[in-house]
Amino acid sequence: MSEPAIETHRLGFAYPDGTRALEAVDLSIDTGGRVAIIGQNGSGKSTLVRHFDGLLRATEGTVNVNGEPVGGRHVADLARAVGIAFQNPDRQIFAASVVREVGFGPRNLGVSGDDLDLRVDAALAAVGLEESRAANPYDLGYSQRKLLGLASILAMRTPIVVLDEPTTGQDARGVARVRAIVDALTEMGRTVIAISHDMRFVAENFPRVVVMRAGRIVLDGSPNDVFAEASWPMLASTFVHPPLAARIGVRMGLGSTPTEASLIEAARRAAGQS
Ligand SMILES: Nc1ncnc2c1ncn2[C@@H]1O[C@H](COP(=O)(O)OP(=O)(O)OP(=O)(O)O)[C@@H](O)[C@H]1O
Ligand SMILES: [Mg+2]
Repeated sequence: MSEPAIETHRLGFAYPDGTRALEAVDLSIDTGGRVAIIGQNGSGKSTLVRHFDGLLRATEGTVNVNGEPVGGRHVADLARAVGIAFQNPDRQIFAASVVREVGFGPRNLGVSGDDLDLRVDAALAAVGLEESRAANPYDLGYSQRKLLGLASILAMRTPIVVLDEPTTGQDARGVARVRAIVDALTEMGRTVIAISHDMRFVAENFPRVVVMRAGRIVLDGSPNDVFAEASWPMLASTFVHPPLAARIGVRMGLGSTPTEASLIEAARRAAGQS
């Protein structure tokens, strides 16, 4: 068995102004695993993942990445292991062209020449920004800047990839791209962690869902368990609304992760009976 990709033990964190954002978080994520983190605004999701690449440092407890404590490791070293696509792309983007933005991370890791070009091209193709190579990032719309932030992280080819709200602002095509990217990362054996408020995206794409409330993990399980009726009061307490399919599925006795076909079949039967 390899070490978990991420392991936190009693992780606590307070911002310099004294705001407590994490309390005794115990979380272990297997290498190659795919985990969604959900919970109300301000529950600590972004704060938690910023501990994985060393941007924030634990106030209490420990964080291990690939079995090693992050404590003594520099951000530059951790950048080889963990890539985080920021919630707000404008905090990530600073280069004057799309192609330079995507190349910045790998160049910093010492990648150059054909290898660099290849990485940049593959990352731009994955997010559908090939045509915008020469563009100034700030001439792109929000959804495209968000995809640019994602491409910059893909180009780093880190074994652990964290996506903070990847579907925000995306239309159906953009969401489909994000889904395809998550699938491709899993196929390559990477660990994928996504923070999301999009419950359908979460339920359909992540086998494990971690729920946060006020800096703590309050639920951790499969979408079937986390979106089951027994969890609804806990979800409501952190302002999470289970996906529509879960709510209808539960009412129709199909469980909280029904397939579209089973919902249609049940609806047809119900209509026939009435
Ligand atoms: N730089 C900061 N200084 C002080 N407090 C902060 C800072 N950043 C976040 N916080 C606070 O820390 C807590 C956790 O915030 P965090 O951004 O991690 O939540 P979140 O779950 O990612 O929320 P959202 O869904 O809105 O992105 C909140 O109370 C927030 O106001
Ligand atoms: Mg956040």
